[in-house]
Amino acid sequence: MAKKTIADVDVNGKKVFIRVDFNVPLDDAGKITDDRRIEMAIPTIESVLTRGGSVILASHLGRPKDAPDPKYTMKPTAVRLAELLKRPVQFAADTVGSDAKGKVAELKAGEILVLENLRFQAGEKNGDETFAKELASFADIYVNDAFGTCHRTDASMYAVPKAFGSRPKVCGFLVEKEIKYLNNAIAEPKRPFVAIIGGKKVSDKILVIKNLLNICDNVLIGGAMAYTFSLAKGEQVGDSFIEPDKVDLAKELLSVGGDKLRLPVDTHVSDKFGADGNKKIVKSGSIENGWQGLDIGPETANLYAGIVKAAKTVVWNGPMGVSEMPPFDEGTKIIAQAIADSSSISIIGGGDSAAAIQQLGFADKVSHVSTGGGASLEMLEGKKFESVAILDEK
Ligand code: 3PG
Repeated sequence: MAKKTIADVDVNGKKVFIRVDFNVPLDDAGKITDDRRIEMAIPTIESVLTRGGSVILASHLGRPKDAPDPKYTMKPTAVRLAELLKRPVQFAADTVGSDAKGKVAELKAGEILVLENLRFQAGEKNGDETFAKELASFADIYVNDAFGTCHRTDASMYAVPKAFGSRPKVCGFLVEKEIKYLNNAIAEPKRPFVAIIGGKKVSDKILVIKNLLNICDNVLIGGAMAYTFSLAKGEQVGDSFIEPDKVDLAKELLSVGGDKLRLPVDTHVSDKFGADGNKKIVKSGSIENGWQGLDIGPETANLYAGIVKAAKTVVWNGPMGVSEMPPFDEGTKIIAQAIADSSSISIIGGGDSAAAIQQLGFADKVSHVSTGGGASLEMLEGKKFESVAILDEK
């Protein structure tokens, strides 16, 4: 059943608590290096402000250890939000302390307040009800617009909406959009439906591959995980990264997948993990000792690009090689280009593949780039989120 969204509730004169995912990457100087998660929360925020409500934003940033840690302050996200919105954004120096309480009490229609990092309080991770009740006392309406955190049951994702009781608890536009894209792709895909799964470890994506093998026409494998599959076939992987304890699982996936599961046919190898080693292209499964695979080879990239071209739905999660270390970004680039050129419904899972598509400037050439890493993977696994289930039905 469809969930109510922020568009379904009257926010005029109301305080609206929006759980956002402003867990953005920061460089060593604490500067935000990718503000997409902040930008994508704006439609929900604007919708409240333009209809006469006020906004209280709460998020986590990083994984601080249940106590304030200046490295993980939300302050830079409040500053960035103010720049994007071109209007003032207030900041509370604590989460449920006197500063937050005072600023919430004074908040007027059209104003925005960002609370300090939820994870500075132990109650966030352990779902504490007292902490949840304090946060729930701040507002009239609860909104979950934190897609990237929807796979968590932290207090702000579950105990807080629960503590709102009969007051409205709805999803924001970002959560609505993410779920719509990922759900539709899985539930009613236009075929051929092709998934491209990459990344280092097969162990991170076993459930995703299993689920996708049930619903896709092809699952194309890239990244270092391909070497564990190669090992499972009894092939030579040289010094490539492998997960020996996952070989049996890889064997199982190979037997379940049959022809649907496609592995690279060639690989770009080097004699060191670095951009300046000797390099060559070899057939998959024949990597000599002293060499390691760092990317799919050109034949594989072109083969996969051809399959992508013929697809009507494409889901991509995980790079094809060490994409942060040219020239081992070549396979990832060719796949990104093929997806950008295709007229299919294309959904890019969060994390590295989302970053690659952004850096290459293709974000507006695909249907949807997810803001969720773990959350989008769990959706591809076919899991349902408790944090969404608890929200009001239409
Ligand atoms: C993410 O970046 O995946 C989300 O913000 C969740 O963060 P977490 O893995 O620290 O819970």
